[in-house]
Amino acid sequence: MKEIDREIEEIKIYRRKFYDNRAGVYDKIWWESPESTEEIDGFRNLVKVKHGEIVLDVATGTGIYLIEMAKKGAQCYGLDASPKMLAQLKRKIEQLELEGNVEEIRVCEADKIPYPNDFFDWVSCIGMLEYYPIEYADLALNEIRRVLKPSKKCFIDIPDPGDKENQNRDYLYKYDLKTFENMLNKIGFDILAKNVAARMIQYLLSKRT
Ligand SMILES: C[S@@+](CC[C@H](N)C(=O)[O-])C[C@H]1O[C@@H](n2cnc3c(N)ncnc32)[C@H](O)[C@@H]1O
Repeated sequence: MKEIDREIEEIKIYRRKFYDNRAGVYDKIWWESPESTEEIDGFRNLVKVKHGEIVLDVATGTGIYLIEMAKKGAQCYGLDASPKMLAQLKRKIEQLELEGNVEEIRVCEADKIPYPNDFFDWVSCIGMLEYYPIEYADLALNEIRRVLKPSKKCFIDIPDPGDKENQNRDYLYKYDLKTFENMLNKIGFDILAKNVAARMIQYLLSKRT
């Protein structure tokens, strides 16, 4: 196994345990964080999901963003590496009576998306890429592009490498923006919009045909 693959596998194990242990408190911490309002506003401004569209939320966690899309009438699929985060999401779906808008919630990793090519109208991946070296972002974004229908849109975020607090967080990967955007272009995405939301940069992408 190559060194980079070993590093990625170690991060996966660490993050799965990390989120399994925090699943019960994740939502409370997230909604109370000063960044959450800007981040969710950015998502709501850029992601205009329509009733009946088929959407996938990669690394959905407790489904904060998946639920936003389900409430709009989208048919939602969610995947995440942490079974306990997904258990919280399933509980919320029942409480909110959104079962009719959720097709499947599945334990799975972002680099092995178990759906056919050209299947989704939207794919989102929020709050995950920053835990991994750019080589993993490349793998996950290639998978995301594969399952998106041609010309359809994708919403992702990464930490703003210019943000002072991000620079002090050594557990986050801060990609050089030029390198990251060149990679998006090479994978076959066009950047439709870019928004700084608190400490994150949000991208609205479309699958180039
Ligand atoms: C910061 S949380 C974000 C959750 C959700 N997207 C949100 O914004 O509230 C990161 C999530 O990524 C998941 N995750 C980490 N590595 C992953 C991987 N390789 N594949 C799929 N999910 C992963 C974690 O289990 C966790 O639920």
